[in-house]
Amino acid sequence: MKNRVSPSNNEVRLRDDEFIVSKTDTRGIITYVNRIFMQISGYSEPELLGVQHNIIRHPDMPRGAFRLMWETLNRGEEFFAYVKNLCKDGSYYWVMANVTPDINADGKVVGYYSVRRKPTDAAIKAVTPLYREMLQIEAAAGAKQGPERSIEHLHQFCRSQNMSYEELIWALDNA
Ligand SMILES: Cc1cc2nc3c(=O)[nH]c(=O)nc-3n(C[C@H](O)[C@H](O)[C@H](O)COP(=O)(O)O)c2cc1C
Repeated sequence: MKNRVSPSNNEVRLRDDEFIVSKTDTRGIITYVNRIFMQISGYSEPELLGVQHNIIRHPDMPRGAFRLMWETLNRGEEFFAYVKNLCKDGSYYWVMANVTPDINADGKVVGYYSVRRKPTDAAIKAVTPLYREMLQIEAAAGAKQGPERSIEHLHQFCRSQNMSYEELIWALDNA
C-alpha cells in the first residue's frame, strides 16, 4: 500500500471547523477514523481500518518528526506537531496535530488517538523550510543517524528562537 501514491502540488485546505480524528493501537495501526478524515484523505473506512497510519505519510515529512513523536509518546506524554499528509489522489494537506496516549482503567497504554485541525499560515510558512532542512540532513546522514541529527536540527532551531519545541508550536499557532 505504502508509496503507491505519487504526490502532486494540489493542496487540500481544512476549514476552521473541521477536525480530523483517528485512533490507533500501540503500533500505529488505525482502529478508528472520523468522517472528515475520510473526506480529506480520500480513503474509505475499509481502506483505512487495520492499516498502518503511515498510509498518509507524505515524503516531504522528515523521519525525525515521527521519531520525536514516538519518543514523546513512549514517555507517556502527548505530542504536538505540524504535519503534511498525503491524500489518496496525491494531494496534500497540512494539519496541526495532537497525539495522545489512550490509557485504560489499569493505567496501561492501549493505543493512541489524534485530533488535527487547520494550522495557521504562519506555521506552514515556518515549518516548510525547517522540514526541508531536516530532510536534507537525513539524506546526508543516512538512515541510521539521520533522524537523530534532524531532531537535533529542530531543537537547534527552537533554541535559536529562545523557545522549547512546544513553545514554538504554540507561538506559531498564535502567529
Ligand atoms: C494516533 C497516531 C496518529 C498518527 N497520525 C499520522 C499522520 O497523520 N500522518 C503520518 O504521516 N503519520 C502519522 N502517525 C505516525 C505513523 O504511525 C508513522 O510512524 C509515520 O507515518 C512514519 O512512518 P514510517 O516510519 O513508516 O515512515 C500517527 C501515529 C499515531 C499513533
